[in-house]
Amino acid sequence: MTDNQEKVRILSGIQPSGKLHLGNYFAMMNPMIKAQETSLLFCFIVNLHALTTVREGKILKKQTLDAAKDFLSLGLDPEKCVFWVQSDVPEVVELTWILSCITSMGLLERCHSYKDKVSKGLIPTHGLFSYPVLMAADILLYQSRIIPVGKDQKQHVEVTRDIAERFNRLYGDTFVLPEPRIEESVSVVPGIDGQKMSKSYGNTIDIFSEENIMRKRIMSIVTDATPVEAPKDPEKCNVFKLYKLFASPEEVAELDRMYRQGGTGYAVSKQMLFEKVKAYFKPYREKRIELEKERKYVEDVMARGAEKARYHASRTLQKVRRKTGLIYKKY
Ligand code: ADP
Ligand code: TRP
Repeated sequence: MTDNQEKVRILSGIQPSGKLHLGNYFAMMNPMIKAQETSLLFCFIVNLHALTTVREGKILKKQTLDAAKDFLSLGLDPEKCVFWVQSDVPEVVELTWILSCITSMGLLERCHSYKDKVSKGLIPTHGLFSYPVLMAADILLYQSRIIPVGKDQKQHVEVTRDIAERFNRLYGDTFVLPEPRIEESVSVVPGIDGQKMSKSYGNTIDIFSEENIMRKRIMSIVTDATPVEAPKDPEKCNVFKLYKLFASPEEVAELDRMYRQGGTGYAVSKQMLFEKVKAYFKPYREKRIELEKERKYVEDVMARGAEKARYHASRTLQKVRRKTGLIYKKY
């Protein structure tokens, strides 16, 4: 057995459907970057999923490369993990069809994400409806066990597990059953309006936005109308919730004390938050600016990643083809 085979397989993906933000960073990107040290990590940019919402080729192309650059700037090391763009491994599309044929409509009809997206005005296409099957194929193709995600993706990982169980029952043990890994403290990072931060809600604070834009976004975080001099409840404040993600326990305790005693306005805590976010991402921002000029390097990294991913994907798919009877020739 090689070293890699003994390590637990961790996998997660992110859609290149807009600029990556603090919610993406804390729930998915940061846990993934940390995991590359101890696991066999599969990290990818899910551009096929993004087709459900991005309808301009030029934009999808740019956002795909930008997401790759973001990950590399934030410390993802392509030598330590498998990092690729989803559509570079077409095996996933074949597995999606095979899984679709054993996935009941009822299972997909119960998915909140589809209903939420349609209620927010997204076009109810077949792709949007069957999105969880493509996600199941992503996970099962790489035999991954742990899936680091935010809370909104929990149901999709559970659906994947159901599909895997059904396949294993029908065709014999084939797929590893995955489980979501959700870090409670960052399971739902609030946006500037207090709802879940999301690219599709226009309420994000982006990891690599210009500093003046980042400051403006932070200054526009929605707070209540408690006067400056009055005591404030930190647990109800969106600025405080975000500050907790960046500050040390002592610094959090200090802001907690300032809120509770009164006399601190939200403009002060917003400025404190801005300083923290700026300092936290400073070294990564420098790397990000460098990578902006290195398109060829980034493309080469993704091509090598796709090759590694394809090696794993084709092994699983071959097994599936054999078990389902798709390989019909004896010789
Ligand atoms: P978005 O909602 O911005 O389009 P994605 O659907 O691409 O984000 O999510 C990528 C990953 O980031 C997923 O694991 C998702 O659960 C996580 N995530 C996104 N937004 C948040 C948030 N506000 N809080 C916690 N996790 C989040
Ligand atoms: N559906 C996920 C999201 O919107 C992205 C995704 C696609 C994913 N395939 C995946 C996440 C596989 C984890 C594992 O955020």
